[in-house]
Amino acid sequence: MMFFLDTGNTKEIKEAASWGVLDGITTNPSLVAKEGRSFKDLLKEICTIVDGPISAEVVSIEADAMVKEGKDLAQIHKNIVVKVPLIPEGLKACKALAAQGIRVNVTLCFSPTQAMLAAKAGAWCVSPFIGRLDDISENGMELIRDIVTIYRNYQYKTKVLVASVRNPMHVVEAAKIGGDICTMPFTVFKQLVQHPLTDLGLKKFLADWEKQNVPKG
Ligand code: G3P
Repeated sequence: MMFFLDTGNTKEIKEAASWGVLDGITTNPSLVAKEGRSFKDLLKEICTIVDGPISAEVVSIEADAMVKEGKDLAQIHKNIVVKVPLIPEGLKACKALAAQGIRVNVTLCFSPTQAMLAAKAGAWCVSPFIGRLDDISENGMELIRDIVTIYRNYQYKTKVLVASVRNPMHVVEAAKIGGDICTMPFTVFKQLVQHPLTDLGLKKFLADWEKQNVPKG
């Protein structure tokens, strides 16, 4: 499973990238707006930090304008993946961008039928938002299970990018089902490594080492 950070914050991206296990980045207009800087400059900087797919979302809602915006974003760097919303205009734009060899992330997916349409439109990946479904008492993980099953049944190449991840168990469950990518906030990324027994064990190893006065060298 590939691990992406869902953020526009370069400090977080640098820290996560330094661990050597970060595969890519997703951004969205809300995350970019929080950073208060030029979108293109931000994307350029992210591309210097992470050598992997970097999702950048269009803000137009009409297909031709999405394609224009998408082509513009894709020119920034070869790793840019253009993100379009899962609406009919977004599907049209996805088809057109994919035909030009531009990778597309079809976002705001909340149902299996939407995911099938994204695959048929030639999306490189689809982004089902599991946390937002959980928030309204629906089962986000069931959506991942359905999409993975359907994509396997028809050998769709589109990757399942599990988004709106809220906790480490979302990552574990999505990996058990076979999701291709998990994008998560930095808080969740950091939680993946934490275990109290690791901390306690390390503390004891180091204390025992000191007590025995093991000869150095
Ligand atoms: O970037 C898309 C998605 O991951 C957003 O997550 O937490 O705003 O529902 P969230």
